[in-house]
Amino acid sequence: MPTISDGTSLLDESERWSVDELRARQLERLRETLHRVYDHVPHYRDAFDAKGFHPDDLRGLDDLARAPLTAKADLRDNYPFGLFAVPRKDVVRVHASSGTTGKPTVVGYTRDDIATWASLVARSLRAAGVRPGDVVHVSYGYGLFTGGLGAHYGAEALGCTVVPMSGGQTEKQVQLIHDFGARAIMVTPSYFLSVLDEMERQGLDPAASPLEIGVFGAEPWTPAMRSEIEQRAAMHAVDIYGLSEVMGPGVAQECVETKDGLHLWEDHFYPEVIDPFTEQPVAEGEVGELVITSLTKQAVPVIRYRTRDLTRLLPGTARPSMRRIEKITGRSDDLMIVRGVNVFPTQIEEIVLELPGLTPFFQCVLTRPDRLDELTVRVEAEPTVKPSLAQQILQELLQMLVDATRPPSSR
Ligand code: DLL
Repeated sequence: MPTISDGTSLLDESERWSVDELRARQLERLRETLHRVYDHVPHYRDAFDAKGFHPDDLRGLDDLARAPLTAKADLRDNYPFGLFAVPRKDVVRVHASSGTTGKPTVVGYTRDDIATWASLVARSLRAAGVRPGDVVHVSYGYGLFTGGLGAHYGAEALGCTVVPMSGGQTEKQVQLIHDFGARAIMVTPSYFLSVLDEMERQGLDPAASPLEIGVFGAEPWTPAMRSEIEQRAAMHAVDIYGLSEVMGPGVAQECVETKDGLHLWEDHFYPEVIDPFTEQPVAEGEVGELVITSLTKQAVPVIRYRTRDLTRLLPGTARPSMRRIEKITGRSDDLMIVRGVNVFPTQIEEIVLELPGLTPFFQCVLTRPDRLDELTVRVEAEPTVKPSLAQQILQELLQMLVDATRPPSSR
């Protein structure tokens, strides 16, 4: 396994804060954020008022549990820019991810937000063992998805040479990794397995590739996948977590020296874990749904955002004052993540309902037969539909499904 140089001297100041200092800063930043949304976002003012919660009620961090939760539906209901806390002209970029209906959830960033995001992805890469001067190959999709551009700006901010490959064109991925001497790759773990297959198809030994570090995320992956990648490619495989509503990649990152869960960058995000049914905080260390409050975001701060991701909070290790989240084990809703692409059954429902000749009944079967996710959609034709027409409908359905769930690489 490649050796990783000690990066201690490169840590951000906040990574060295004591727990007391961190908590004091969190409280200060939380107060500012609560006031900002109360003053500038009608949705939050209404939701706070309805719950009898006022930003001035916050005496300690624990009081946050009295504030209302925010869900993906709130973003959808305020589509597109209703949750922005700054004038639209101050927003320098938007990203979007699939929603539970046809409307995507939209997020925006001020110039400072973009700088903060880049610094957090840079910090994440450093924790993964990437160093200034490295060649970083980015295979996350560029576009509305936060993966590509988020990774890109972070790697640039760290001082790396970035290859903005995006997803797809697997043959070319292999060629550029070798020709440009990529030390690190940022990609969904399932697609990386295809890249490794392609290397072997071309007669190349993955263990002899220049890659030493893989920064894998955007979808759940198992310790077994880590072992497979590390053994096959003689490289370190570490986990990166994030979601567009909270920022994008770089909310939490696994440190290469411990590989024991992901440190959540608590100077910018405040985590809670709740029981998804009762919505009450779980006991410390218990598994539940991760809820995140942004502490520094300007354009679209989120208060108690329900990620729907299931995990638990653990004490810090490699960064002692920042807590870790355990590798995400599942979700508390029906979102399917198919090869890194978020797909809600409701998106499929919309298409099924749109096509004449189909009943409104369908079934989604998500499997992973050969390490890559496969989604099978079973639909039922109206009894009057002739087989030849059914074939035509199926073709149309397939095309619509492919368009609606196109991977981030080509979005
Ligand atoms: O997937 C952001 C991202 C890009 C993260 C690249 C990491 C790398 P969304 O499209 O909004 O954003 O999807 C967010 O993906 O709520 C999780 O369910 C899932 N997810 C993201 N990272 C991981 C991970 C990006 N490391 C949703 N492990 C999240 C498990 C993950 N699930």
